[in-house]
Amino acid sequence: MKHLLSATDLARGAAIEILDLAETMTGVNARDIKKLPTLRGKTVVNLFYEDSTRTRISFELAAKRLSADVINFAAKGSSVSKGESLKDTVQTLQALGADAIVIRHPGSGAAKKLADSGWIDGSVVNAGDGTHEHPTQALLDAFTIRQKLVSSAPGKGLDGLHIAIVGDILHSRVARSNVILLQTLGARVTLIAPPTLAPNAKVFMGAPVLYSLDEALMAERFDAVIMLRVQLERMKASYFPSEREYARQWGLTVERFEALSPETLVMHPGPMNRGLEICDSAADSAQSTVLAQVSNGLSIRMAVLYRLLSSDKDNDGQ
Ligand code: CP
Repeated sequence: MKHLLSATDLARGAAIEILDLAETMTGVNARDIKKLPTLRGKTVVNLFYEDSTRTRISFELAAKRLSADVINFAAKGSSVSKGESLKDTVQTLQALGADAIVIRHPGSGAAKKLADSGWIDGSVVNAGDGTHEHPTQALLDAFTIRQKLVSSAPGKGLDGLHIAIVGDILHSRVARSNVILLQTLGARVTLIAPPTLAPNAKVFMGAPVLYSLDEALMAERFDAVIMLRVQLERMKASYFPSEREYARQWGLTVERFEALSPETLVMHPGPMNRGLEICDSAADSAQSTVLAQVSNGLSIRMAVLYRLLSSDKDNDGQ
């Protein structure tokens, strides 16, 4: 595997291999000395054309934990504001010796365009491209579900689990990658969204689409409920009457949270709009995995960089 552009790049075996490797990385992160020498001499570039907290910081820390050099490039404050193109920017980074480019970009398909361009020799990791995909978020979500509900033992998938993804599916790269990866790992996925923010189909990439959160929560016991961020910054039109109305119909309110099974995981990729898609008591509850997802993101991104950049001779089981 040279690039990670989409959850479709991961067959079941490859996905489980990364989850297992992330488990090993969690062990490394729990040690006093948290570093592996695996990527010594390699350079990882974080190329971010959109804002990020969790993804950028965890890729940076992941690369450092594997002893790689890291360049953090934010389009804001760079020569992009003087009109420099993506091609010229990445070729500049290539000239500085980038072995991997972790790219976040508002354009859907930007990561694939870069990987297919021939502008660079190194690996490309999609850290979120427009409304298309965010494969490492799906991996860390799957890792968190497996850790909490299945087992940390190697080789396990998510067979038999039923996961709900709720909210602004229309604009969500997290939803797309999760629908693909969770099903690859054997889970059943149900999408629940307002009609204006749902895919225009009764079944989307194999997952049924429902329009009433209350009916869905009454009819099914979900093993995990992934609440999506309402992506106000991507909305060019009015998709719901008001934020209050969205929270009332589509949010994980106190009443809906209290009606969930105490075993149901409450997940959110972050950043959260508290009071809109999720209430404080759900976000801060013992069932919430929000902070575990962030911690697991580090282990997953270490596993992905290790998988893409370490050569066979370096894979000596350290
Ligand atoms: N979940 C996620 O991608 O968060 P950031 O935008 O903070 O990276």
